[in-house]
Amino acid sequence: MQIKEMNIEELQNLQTELHNQYEDYKKLGLNLNMSRGKPSKAQLDLSLDMLDIKELTAADGTDARNYGVLDGLPEAKAFMADFMSVPVDNIIVFGNSSLNIMYDTVMRAYVFGVLPGATPWKDQGKIKFLCPVPGYDRHFGVTEAFGFELISVPMTENGPDMDIVEKLVAEDAQIKGIWCVPKYSNPEGHTYSDETVRRMAAMPTAAADFRVFWDNAYCEHHLDMDDKAEILDFLAECAAAGNPERPYIFGSTSKITFPGAGLAAFAAGPESVKYTRKLMGVQTIGYDKLNQLRHVKFFGDKAGLQAHMAKHAAILKPKFDIVTETLARELGDTGCADWTNPKGGYFISFNTMPGLAKKVVGMCKEAGVELTGAGATYPYGIDPEDKNIRLAPSMPPVADLKVAAELFCLCVKLASVEKLLAEKQA
Ligand SMILES: Cc1ncc(COP(=O)(O)O)c(C=O)c1O
Repeated sequence: MQIKEMNIEELQNLQTELHNQYEDYKKLGLNLNMSRGKPSKAQLDLSLDMLDIKELTAADGTDARNYGVLDGLPEAKAFMADFMSVPVDNIIVFGNSSLNIMYDTVMRAYVFGVLPGATPWKDQGKIKFLCPVPGYDRHFGVTEAFGFELISVPMTENGPDMDIVEKLVAEDAQIKGIWCVPKYSNPEGHTYSDETVRRMAAMPTAAADFRVFWDNAYCEHHLDMDDKAEILDFLAECAAAGNPERPYIFGSTSKITFPGAGLAAFAAGPESVKYTRKLMGVQTIGYDKLNQLRHVKFFGDKAGLQAHMAKHAAILKPKFDIVTETLARELGDTGCADWTNPKGGYFISFNTMPGLAKKVVGMCKEAGVELTGAGATYPYGIDPEDKNIRLAPSMPPVADLKVAAELFCLCVKLASVEKLLAEKQA
């Protein structure tokens, strides 16, 4: 029954029932965690054999143990370019973290400017950045650390609301960039439509040095290998629209092999790649080529990587299913919440009635279930409606997830009933 349609007496009865159930949960002494978007141990074990690969010499004879090869071994560049669906000439293979590349990319634009001769962002007054919400807290954290003004833009099922994005970037030259997770977005799991990609590539911007930070973190992270989301080639769309230097594209194998010990890469337009190589050449002599060879030998090619991703999906899908099934069963007809049913990525995005996210996260914590902090999916950690909660089903075992999801639903119902009662009794 729709909780919203209940009268005061019905709400009071339900409150008592739910409260008793909640107290029973608290007695169980649970210690469960749905807060972390990390692969589980079973997923990490999938790549263990990679560590037995002791390949020291690249195809061109380079000794991978020694210094040199700034932007990646040729076979590593070819592999990462194929994986990220970009031409090999446009790619640079970096170290172990794409977030690290994103930070450095902002830093370079801030200190040196986006291209030779461009005015550094630091010399252009207050810089602003667009942040589709809900979004990835660490993206927002990078641009917050530089003191940029973060402007929230609402997400839709097809990507950021492009009417708003186009208007803002056309009118304000202080807006220098936008954060994008184009496939299986964090946290909603949405994938940008062709129209969104084309508009993002072609939109006029007041700032000549406007850049799209295209974090394709989940490009091969499907939950169902027979139902994969596809996106257009952003680099090609930008070039076709006459904006070849607009995209900064990021990817990594963090959630494919080992987070913190994978391969990360950057792709961009021809001038941007050239300039980045020049600047990074001061910063490093080269990254970990032994790890590059390990990855190339382990997967062979993109088809090998995709076969590996099917094994991840087999582990992850039952976990997402148990959570979405529980949400549908417990909350489907209550009218007091909505959530996404992603086809890939690592998260489910959940909305309570306005004003309840913090309360629900607190109630879950009190009963032994840790969730991502409410507000984390918004710039500055502030969700203006206090309603979004990011659920991360990857780490706990299925049995734990079932209990955690049931308790979560109970907390959502109890918090909603209490809010409605307070409103009706006011
Ligand atoms: C959208 C997104 N980008 C990047 C990362 C981190 O990537 P990396 O491990 O390559 O730094 C994450 C991790 O959760 C993520 O969700």
